[in-house]
Amino acid sequence: MALPALLQDRLTLPMVGAPMFLASRAELVIAQCLAGVVGTFPSLNARTTEELDTWLTRIGAALAAAQAADPGRRIAPYGVNLILHPTNTRVAADLECMARHRVPIVITSVGKPEGVVKAVHSWGGIVFHDVTTMKFARKALECEVDGLVLVCAGAGGHGGTMNPFAYVEEVRAEYAGTVLLAGAMSTGRAVRAALDLGADLAYMGTRFLVAQEANVPPPQQAMMLEATMADIVYTAVFSGIPANYLAPSIAANGVDVAALVKLGSLPGAEAPKDIFKPGQEKPKAWKEVWSAGQGVGSLHDVLPAAEIVARLQAEFLATR
Ligand SMILES: Cc1cc2nc3c(=O)[nH]c(=O)nc-3n(C[C@H](O)[C@H](O)[C@H](O)COP(=O)(O)O)c2cc1C
Repeated sequence: MALPALLQDRLTLPMVGAPMFLASRAELVIAQCLAGVVGTFPSLNARTTEELDTWLTRIGAALAAAQAADPGRRIAPYGVNLILHPTNTRVAADLECMARHRVPIVITSVGKPEGVVKAVHSWGGIVFHDVTTMKFARKALECEVDGLVLVCAGAGGHGGTMNPFAYVEEVRAEYAGTVLLAGAMSTGRAVRAALDLGADLAYMGTRFLVAQEANVPPPQQAMMLEATMADIVYTAVFSGIPANYLAPSIAANGVDVAALVKLGSLPGAEAPKDIFKPGQEKPKAWKEVWSAGQGVGSLHDVLPAAEIVARLQAEFLATR
């Protein structure tokens, strides 16, 4: 296992609750960490840097109080996702705020993590970077990140296209450090499989969209409980970058799903106007058309995050 020192003996299950736009709020992060898995959220889920400051204070205080009450308890450190895309104008301010709170884990996505790595290391934190190809993996390693998140086919959000068997093998041929595996894992059995494959940590998003603490409206959670992998559509039409969405949420916005699927998933693909309802604007990614990974078929109930983790642990242990 290539687990960074700050994660050793801190986890009850080798996994990270992945950051999810809108869905991952402070309550979910706290519940995940208290259950012994790393809880994370995109900094942009806090509407301003001032609100981010409040969230980080709240998360830090909750975890410290629980640890003080029970010093032997395994409480996982938390992480913040920093989106490095040029459209994110808050990177510098959010990073400065994260420095003040000495955020233990920073997950960077969509961009080059170079400057961020130096900053985070200066306060003793670590950086994991999201990658979808070998080219991006090598670029991230040049920036001296502390781990790679391999975002594979079927992952919620901007999922990749690589098969996890192939991707982990190619990465492991060049890199012995921390590898996190992402994509359609929703059970403890999948966590075990990720380790058997050569990853150090599973990285699970969709499974926690049906946590009680997630900021997910009940109709969206109900749709996910009904859905199977056949309901997931991979398209670049809504955000410009290919991502996985729930087909029923696309149809509910009046979009012709069959026509959308025919377009394929090329980045930047512009949909012909006639796939939308006459006079209708393109529905908004994440807010109106809902993202989920192909692991939705394993979601059967809405539960507190602690219970989800307890189930994952039981499933994980049952594999041996
Ligand atoms: C609704 C939703 C929103 C997401 N938002 C983000 C995000 O803001 N930043 C990010 O790095 N990844 C985001 N992701 C991707 C997750 O961090 C993670 O890679 C993915 O959920 C793992 O695959 P899984 O959903 O199949 O478990 C999102 C995923 C979902 C389902």
